[in-house]
Amino acid sequence: MRYDFSDKISTLKPSAIREIFKVLENPDIISFAGGNPDPETFPSREMSIIAKRLFDENAAASLQYGITEGYMPLRTLTAERLKEKYSVGTEDDSLIITSGGQQAIDLMTKVMVNEGDVVLCENPSFIGALNAFRSFNARLVGVRSDDGGMDLDALEHTLKTTKNVKFIYVIPTFQNPSGRTLSLSRRKALLSLSSKYGVMILEDNPYFELRYSGEYVPPIKSLDTEGLVLYAGSYSKILSPGMRVGFALGPKPVIDKMVVAKQVSDVHTNQFFCMLVAEYLKTCDLDGHIEEIRSLYRQKRDLMLSEIDRLFDPRVRRTSPDGGLFLWCELPEGADGLKLCGMLSEKKVAAVPGSAFMVDENAPCPALRLNFSMPSAAQIKKGVALMSEAIHEYLK
Ligand SMILES: Cc1ncc(COP(=O)(O)O)c(C=O)c1O
Repeated sequence: MRYDFSDKISTLKPSAIREIFKVLENPDIISFAGGNPDPETFPSREMSIIAKRLFDENAAASLQYGITEGYMPLRTLTAERLKEKYSVGTEDDSLIITSGGQQAIDLMTKVMVNEGDVVLCENPSFIGALNAFRSFNARLVGVRSDDGGMDLDALEHTLKTTKNVKFIYVIPTFQNPSGRTLSLSRRKALLSLSSKYGVMILEDNPYFELRYSGEYVPPIKSLDTEGLVLYAGSYSKILSPGMRVGFALGPKPVIDKMVVAKQVSDVHTNQFFCMLVAEYLKTCDLDGHIEEIRSLYRQKRDLMLSEIDRLFDPRVRRTSPDGGLFLWCELPEGADGLKLCGMLSEKKVAAVPGSAFMVDENAPCPALRLNFSMPSAAQIKKGVALMSEAIHEYLK
């Protein structure tokens, strides 16, 4: 049988990171490649108590179909927390529970993008989002970023010179893969450009509560009074990613369309886990839990940065993430991150080549993305030492 796949899926490659996950099953490998939270941060004890209670007291509801918008108490609790703590959301907004933040990105694209329409994004950007845009045959246009995030002069130039731009995709806080944060003044300027050119913003903000240093910067959505921003969030990095519970909050007409799109996708997000998260929010201390996660990851980040500064060749530039799970290392111009990753794997160390996160995956890229949430302190020390050896050999 010859399987005649659609144009949309034929151009899509398996995610480089998912492919690397297969290699990681080897326990001898020290991995800086994934983006998984440390399992130590999962509130397993509380969740086990809640899960038992849900089944003992409300098995029928946990096992029944739910509504596409999402389990109502979770919608309410999520919207209230966003509003009270972060001033996110207005009367004109609505909220849908999604199967992870990933589905919020997918549904936004599904309801907004016709084949050939343009999505503007940071370059590099999150591979899961880039692949979602590609799967709808969007044309991706990367906008240059520097240490302060997306370069807004470059963005305005692109907006002026590009037709059919549907939205601007940004991960403003502790960006994946770079760890960079968009400053407040750039957030305001981004909103002004969105308003001036009538182009929406998709603000993907799953890491923003994981801050280890520096000053709080408010979500772009909290500054939005004109219905310009669709906000994607997630419980993956602050509770657990395996539950697949995320959300999108944005202008009611957009969310209404996303509800229709979700109906034909997965009907609704897993009812049991939505109930579990709602109960957790009601009866446990999420903010206290996030504080514990921060303290663990702060130590890991500090160790990773100090070991890199101590051992890496000084020609390697790195970002200084104030939070999140990642940092970005750039070798001198002309180096090949992919080749270096090959040399790393010979030393049983895994990292993701920067090219995987670029709009043009085939263009040469001298960078690597490194994750610091998953490896232990001992692995960070050993892994950075092995990486520095490989870098010395490569640059020789
Ligand atoms: C920037 C960004 N957005 C969205 C997601 C999706 O996360 P999830 O679907 O688990 O909520 C991730 C996951 O790594 C991410 O890094």
